[in-house]
Amino acid sequence: MIKLSELYSGKAKTVFKTDDPEKLIMEFRDSLTAFDGKKKSEAPKKGYYNAQIAAKLLTLLEDKGIKTHYDSMMSDTEMIVDAVEIIKIEVIVRNIAAGSLVKKYPFKTGQKINPPILVFDYKSDEHGDPMINDDIALALGLATRPELLEIRKLALLINSILVDYLDAKNILLPDFKLEFGRRKGTIVLADEISCDTCRFWDKATGESLDKDVFRFDKGDLVAAYREVARRIVPEIFELT
Ligand code: TMP
Ligand code: ASP
Repeated sequence: MIKLSELYSGKAKTVFKTDDPEKLIMEFRDSLTAFDGKKKSEAPKKGYYNAQIAAKLLTLLEDKGIKTHYDSMMSDTEMIVDAVEIIKIEVIVRNIAAGSLVKKYPFKTGQKINPPILVFDYKSDEHGDPMINDDIALALGLATRPELLEIRKLALLINSILVDYLDAKNILLPDFKLEFGRRKGTIVLADEISCDTCRFWDKATGESLDKDVFRFDKGDLVAAYREVARRIVPEIFELT
């Protein structure tokens, strides 16, 4: 596969066209931002750890029968994915109260949420990713009603698979963000699942092992990402 011109560059990943119109390359960079890009930094190897974690989790979901855009890794930081039409909804699933949920509503950090809360945000930096409901999503033409139902069903299924998998690695999953796309008439999981898009807490200590380390200056971001990689992709450490 040949990497061609850049299609789109986001805050932490760059997407490239390839010589196959059905495939794209998603490159995980070492840059990171928070608070709608207001806080910015670079962290060496962060792109590598996130790419490896995302590849592992997307493969896990594929193995459990969830359709994803994942194809294969082209290099340590470059993922080959199916070209999909991205649905402009950020799907957030919450199992334990944290972050903006605690800021906006009378939940206490660490409070268990069962059944999980599922929230849709409109994926638009310009509008500050506001929370939307089904009526707003339909009125904006972001998705159809059957698609919203399918997204909800898939997000909850993905949540239960990830919670069980991570629990065995001594990682709690308070919340995370998913994006979906359309491909050949079906809804597929797109984007990434990584330390940038999930809250991961150490099960024993409650310590953050995700982008909150950067958002709230909690310590060494790369050490936190490396620790998640060590637990879920140990094979990449055995090589060195
Ligand atoms: P929040 O508590 O800040 O609303 O974040 C909820 C989850 O969504 C958390 O796991 C981080 C993830 N997230 C993203 O992936 N991208 C974003 O832009 C934001 C705000 C959160
Ligand atoms: N991804 C968003 C940003 O950069 C927000 C966040 O993750 O906190 O700005």
